[in-house]
This record gives sequence, C-alpha cells and structure tokens, in this order.
Amino acid sequence: MSKPDKPRTVFVCQNCGKESLKWLGRCPDCQEWNTFVETTVQVTAAARIYTQDNPPQELSQIAIEAADRLPISLAEFDRVLGGGLVSGSMVLIGGEPGIGKSTLLLQVSSLVAEARGKVVYVSGEETLHQIKLRAERLGIKGEKLYLLAETDLDVILNQIEKLSPDMVVIDSIQAVYLPELDTAAGSVTQIRECTLRLMHLAKLKTVPIFITGHVTKDGALAGPRVLEHIVDVVLYFEGEPFSAYRLLRSVKNRFGSTNEIGVFEMKEQGLAEVDNPSKAFLSQRWGEAIGSAVVPTLEGSRPLLVEIQALTNPTSFGLPRRTANGVDFGRLLLITAVLAKRAGLRLGNQDIIANVTGGLRIGEPAADLGIALAIASSFRDMAVDPGLAAVGEVGLSGELRAVSQPDRRVDEAARLGFKRCLVPKLGARISPPKGIEIVPVSTLREAIGVGLVRGKTKSKADEE
Ligand code: TYD
Ligand code: MG
Repeated sequence: MSKPDKPRTVFVCQNCGKESLKWLGRCPDCQEWNTFVETTVQVTAAARIYTQDNPPQELSQIAIEAADRLPISLAEFDRVLGGGLVSGSMVLIGGEPGIGKSTLLLQVSSLVAEARGKVVYVSGEETLHQIKLRAERLGIKGEKLYLLAETDLDVILNQIEKLSPDMVVIDSIQAVYLPELDTAAGSVTQIRECTLRLMHLAKLKTVPIFITGHVTKDGALAGPRVLEHIVDVVLYFEGEPFSAYRLLRSVKNRFGSTNEIGVFEMKEQGLAEVDNPSKAFLSQRWGEAIGSAVVPTLEGSRPLLVEIQALTNPTSFGLPRRTANGVDFGRLLLITAVLAKRAGLRLGNQDIIANVTGGLRIGEPAADLGIALAIASSFRDMAVDPGLAAVGEVGLSGELRAVSQPDRRVDEAARLGFKRCLVPKLGARISPPKGIEIVPVSTLREAIGVGLVRGKTKSKADEE
C-alpha cells in the first residue's frame, strides 16, 4: 500500500460534500447556508486502488472470468444487480429506517455463505445478540457467516484482512468512523473516507462489499452525494410502511441496466420474493369497481400491472383539494385540467384523491390514461371495464401520446387475463398475443367513451 499523504485542512460542505480552501457562507454547489465545516482530510491515499507500478494493459488482453459475476440465487435481487453479484464491486443499499435493509442483507449473507464461503456481516447499529435474534426469525443457521459488532473502521478492516472473506456487509456506512479523522461518525468527511477505504479493499481483494445507507426525509441518501459517485451500484429499498411490499430499485449500476426493480414481501420469516408482482398487486382488486383502472407500467425492463384508484367528491368547504399517493402531484393536476377542459368533466368543485395500490410509486407518464380513467370513472359513477387495461400519456390538448415498448405492456396485460388494452393510436403498431384485443384511441375523450361501462356495478365481494 502506498504511503498516506500528509493531512491537509479544507472546508467541506456537510450537505453535498463540496470542498473549499476557505470558509464559505453558502455552498456554491447545493446552495445551502452555513454548511461548511473545517476538516482534516487524507483523501488521496485511500483513493489509490492499484500499486505504484501499474502499467496500462491492452484491452484485448484483459480476461473476464465466469466467476466474476455470480448469482446469489435470489432471483429478484440478481436481476436488480444485473444478473448476479460482481466480484470486487461495491453496492450501496439506501432506504428509510425500518424498511428492511438489515433483514435483506442478512438473508443475502446467509445465501452467499452457503453457496460461496465466508461472509463478514459488520453491524454498527445492533448488538450480536440482536442480530442473532433476527437470524433465528429468518431461520438462518449461520455457518460461515461471521458477525462483527463494531464501528471503528480500522478495527473492521483489520478483522476483514485476517479472515479474508468472500463477501462483506457494512451496516451502515453512517455508523462507522475512522478515529484518525477529527469529525463525528456520519459526517460527510467520515462517510467519504470510510467508503473510499472500503472501495480500496473491494478492488484490492476483489471481494464484493455491500454497504447500507440511511436516507433523509426527502428521500436522498443522508449526507453526501459523493457516496453515490464512489460506489459501483446504488440500490434503493423502498415501500410504504403500511404495505408489506418492498421494492428494490437500481438507480446506478456500473455492471447492468438501471431502473430494474425487484419485488419482495416482508413476512414473519423475513423477505420473500414476489415472482408474479402484477398478480400480487392486483390480487385485492374488486372486479368491476368504480374509480379503479389497471395500467401496465414498465419498471426498467420489467412490465408491471398496477391498479390506480381515484375518488372524486364535491368540495364541502373552500378550495377543492387534490391528493396524490404514488402518482406525481404535478401529473395529477395536469390530468385533472385536461379532463376538465378537453373531456368536459366538471371537476372544478371536486376534491380528488388518486392512489396507487400496494404502496407503489409510478413516475412514468404512460400511467396518465389510467389515472384519467379512474378519475372519470369515479366522477361519472360508472365502472371501468374490468377486463380492460389502459396505457397512454395525456397531452395538453387532450390527445394521447405514444408510450415506450407498448408490446411488452400488452403482453403482460394478456398474461394476467385482460381482454382489451387501450393504447394511443400513434405508434400502436403492435401484434398482440392471443386473447387480448388492442383498442387504439387518439383522444382522452374517446378513451373515456370506450373504457367506462354502463349498468349495474358488481364487485367480487358481492359475488362471494
Ligand atoms: P430492518 O431490516 O431492521 O430495517 P432497516 O435495516 O432498513 O432499518 O427491518 C425492520 C423491520 O422489518 C421491522 O419493522 C420488523 C420487520 N420484520 C418483519 O416483518 N419480519 C422479519 O422477519 C424481520 C426480521 C423484520
Ligand atoms: Mg438496519
């Protein structure tokens, strides 16, 4: 290892990690006030991954071994990683407290220990006893799985060196610290230095390292964005606290595509894979219910059927309110305005609530048509055809705009037994699988005419 550089003093923004040689009142990068703190750093030494004598190699001569990427035999996790765990990679799992990061990584550790060899699970937040209790619940025996309750990174690195494991977990990066730095654990400097040290270890020993990170209330990783720049893969573990479903979402991946998701369900015995998420998300759907529409969304490479519900109700006092759960608030306002202006729905005196069931969050505009149908259905008190799925982006003149990869969406709807699928007329050249009819529509008004059905509404609950 190279000799550490001389420590130097800089001022570091505690919000975004920007460095400055002198103190600044406001960070020029993230615009936050009073975030600069004087710190001593030793960055460069840890950042050096290779030895001094590191000649360039010809690309064609660099061998890739099959063992470089190994599946964890947890299909939902492997897909998000891009087909398995890459040796020497550093993976960050971010998520709110209590979402299940520790549970997930303990399960992964156990799987890797069984299949591959020694795993060190370092916890800076829980005692060995607490982790053992959790392992009992998860039914993990824990051979070759070594626990270490420690926060001093020097000690941790030392122990890892001694044991030379095949995988390392650090739970969490905010809890560990380097004693030689004069800032507290969890500060930007600590987090960055600790991550760099761990990265160094990962590359040097080609051992995969998982680290967990807390996120703040607004969903960003607590502390620095620098963390996201350093690591190879950034995954977010998310879900609504009241729902048992958990989504593992990839936002950065040097070894695979981003926007992949894995779906899990939190059960008594830990996290279980959900291999048919569309079915799971639709399982509580009430057939021909008013104010409910089904949308085939795409999450990365994966189509996913979700139910969108809406409720309209006359405003009893003051301004009408709009509430969006799981859909973008701005999109909801846009769709409401277009429904009023272009489809003739008088929503000006209505409170509107839109909701995605199962605690999912949809970001893509392809869900617009589904949201619009659910609102129209509730407002007109007419059900959406229960055998119908709908996809399309709503434009400001009430037109429906093409969506990406319509075929895959239609396939997924067909797979779950939907009989018809509304798609925007533009770009609707799809060869549908058997059993589903493609209904091309060009405007929102037309879609509402086709999608809503008259007559007695009947729900599954009534039938039973
Ligand atoms: P945890 O992994 O500690 O979350 P994080 O590390 O992200 O803070 O998860 C804790 C939650 O998961 C807790 O509320 C209880 C729940 N849980 C289960 O429902 N079943 C289980 O088998 C386990 C271990 C936890
Ligand atoms: Mg935890």
